[in-house]
Amino acid sequence: MTRIAYVNGKYLPHDQAAVHIDDRGYQFGDGIYEVVTVINGKLADQEWHLDRMEYSLGQLGIAMPMTRAALKIVINTIIRMNKITHGLVYFQITRGVMPRDHAFNLLLKPQLVMTAKPLKRLESPEINPVKVITVPDQRWQRRDIKTIQLLPNCLAKTKAAEAGAYEALMVDGDGMITEGSSSNAWIVTHDGELITRPTSYDILSGITRRAIIALAEKRNLKIVERAFTVDEAKKAAEVFVTSATSIVTPVCMVDDQKIGNGDAGPVATALRQSYFSNINETAAE
Ligand code: PDD
Repeated sequence: MTRIAYVNGKYLPHDQAAVHIDDRGYQFGDGIYEVVTVINGKLADQEWHLDRMEYSLGQLGIAMPMTRAALKIVINTIIRMNKITHGLVYFQITRGVMPRDHAFNLLLKPQLVMTAKPLKRLESPEINPVKVITVPDQRWQRRDIKTIQLLPNCLAKTKAAEAGAYEALMVDGDGMITEGSSSNAWIVTHDGELITRPTSYDILSGITRRAIIALAEKRNLKIVERAFTVDEAKKAAEVFVTSATSIVTPVCMVDDQKIGNGDAGPVATALRQSYFSNINETAAE
């Protein structure tokens, strides 16, 4: 089957899909993106992802490339053309094309690219716990905007891969964990409290984080939104990360420290199960 990508109004074979070399996304990382998962043929938390997309665009003064309704049609078309049942849709919107200059023209036409691919990991809630490492957070001060400018995240994730780990948790100047290179970070204390950093300019306001808070509240779990230290994570009953592609992924090791008995924790496992069941019950087709 030929993989199909969407580029500014055209559906093209993936290997022929291309953007202009003067695209500001290519030149400056001047753009934003979203990743929406498809589980069992259903789009997970689509409206929340589109809300965040509009927020990111608004913060950078980039216009919507089309109406939200039209964008949903492109999303559904790309899923259908690529026959995705369990997978992800990636889309990015850049400010537009102009001769390279740091200062941008305010009237550029935003450029939209969309791709989709299957993801085995989303086929079932079963998962093995993963290792994470900690690294200094080297990013800019507006991490709430989902920009495509991801170099510090890429360096952190590559360091994790080199250490045989799944994710790198990034640590701020005060020794507090901000978030993962492409996920939000959580701990469960020995008293059963769920702790995750509050949303601010310091972290991306994860859509999965938001969904998991809602599911945890339904289960009457105590949620405390506060920053936590690396040491707290290493001593926690459970550690896990959340993202569109990880859903809830339990962590068995932080740097050289084993978490609990090294198995997937019960809270992370239950929340992961709930997320999958909830998608099957409620998500848009
Ligand atoms: N990453 N924090 C960062 C820095 C992220 O890049 C992501 C998502 C998250 C979790 O957000 P959400 O739950 O909305 O996926 C938190 C996506 C999956 C990516 O870059 O591929």
